[in-house]
Amino acid sequence: MLAKHDPPVCIALAAELPICHTLPACIRIRSSAIGRHGAANRTTCDADVAPRAWNEKKVTAMPLLIRSKVRRHKNRGAWQQVGLVAGFLAGRHFVGAKDLHYGYWVDGLEPIIRNLPRAQEEYCRFLLAHIPADANSILDVGCGAGGVAASLLARGHRVECVSPSEFLNSQAKQLLGDRVRINECKYEDFHTSEVYDVVLFCESFQYVKMEVALANAVSQLRSGGQLIISDFFRLPGDKKSPISGGHRLEEFQEIIARFPFKLVEEKDISTRTSPTFTVIESAFSEVLQPIWNEIDVAGMATFPRLYRFGNWLFRRRLEKVKQKYFTHERSAENFERYKTYRLMRFVRA
Ligand SMILES: C[S@@+](CC[C@H](N)C(=O)[O-])C[C@H]1O[C@@H](n2cnc3c(N)ncnc32)[C@H](O)[C@@H]1O
Repeated sequence: MLAKHDPPVCIALAAELPICHTLPACIRIRSSAIGRHGAANRTTCDADVAPRAWNEKKVTAMPLLIRSKVRRHKNRGAWQQVGLVAGFLAGRHFVGAKDLHYGYWVDGLEPIIRNLPRAQEEYCRFLLAHIPADANSILDVGCGAGGVAASLLARGHRVECVSPSEFLNSQAKQLLGDRVRINECKYEDFHTSEVYDVVLFCESFQYVKMEVALANAVSQLRSGGQLIISDFFRLPGDKKSPISGGHRLEEFQEIIARFPFKLVEEKDISTRTSPTFTVIESAFSEVLQPIWNEIDVAGMATFPRLYRFGNWLFRRRLEKVKQKYFTHERSAENFERYKTYRLMRFVRA
């Protein structure tokens, strides 16, 4: 996808503006379903109940610096969702991509945008090969547009999803119909008395608060059940990565050690996934940058003073956007230098 973790330029620019936006809150309370042992089972998706009033009140009571940090964090989450939706729509429209994860570039598969759907299918194949075939129930956390859940269903698993994006969930619903229940909220706000054989994070772990998510997973997995995380993490280092996203690997390792999980498998697939950045980079340099340059020329020709003023007013933001998207730094090499993409399988004690 062009813009999965980093929004595309127009969105990135808007995101840099000091406007406070949050996505509409979702409130879904579902108490339903019969649990696997026949008992009535309660599931709540109680994210952001009365979000604005409650949060705003809480936020305004905080000291100024902390307040702006909290707001920035909330805004970043909202814009991440925008980036995911934009990336999904662009990928589907231009190359027929169905998924929202990176590609898994097998030998001989050239990293060009046309091959992205095939690389994403390879990713799905790789992932499924690491999910126990005899798992009965699977919780797919951050299901995106439902592609992975559909493959799991096709293999005979019972699947339930939890994900906050209203739009992506509507796409998943179209794909999956009534065969899967989709709980619309952040995983951190998902509570259920159901227990699953597998809790799966397919490139969604980087979006969750680790402690809360892992505590949830402990309570929602049966003993001997598996937590499967396939996602990228930040490697230690002093330099700031030109590619954003991912939890710090040592922090993750330190946090998960406090939970009753035993690591049973770990695969580093960084070199298989990094070519996705070659594809993203070429889309930015071959398509978006020339368009940006043309807009620059047309703007200067049409409204020279206003345009110059606008450029001056937003100079820092514009510089940041150019630095981020047009300096060829978001490359496969830098992905491998600063990130590590891993599939990790843990058994719950
Ligand atoms: C990169 S996409 C991956 C989608 C899908 N798993 C796939 O492989 O195609 C990340 C997904 O995580 C979801 N997400 C973001 N924040 C989340 C949270 N706090 N809890 C659960 N899901 C979240 C997004 O809405 C999106 O569906």
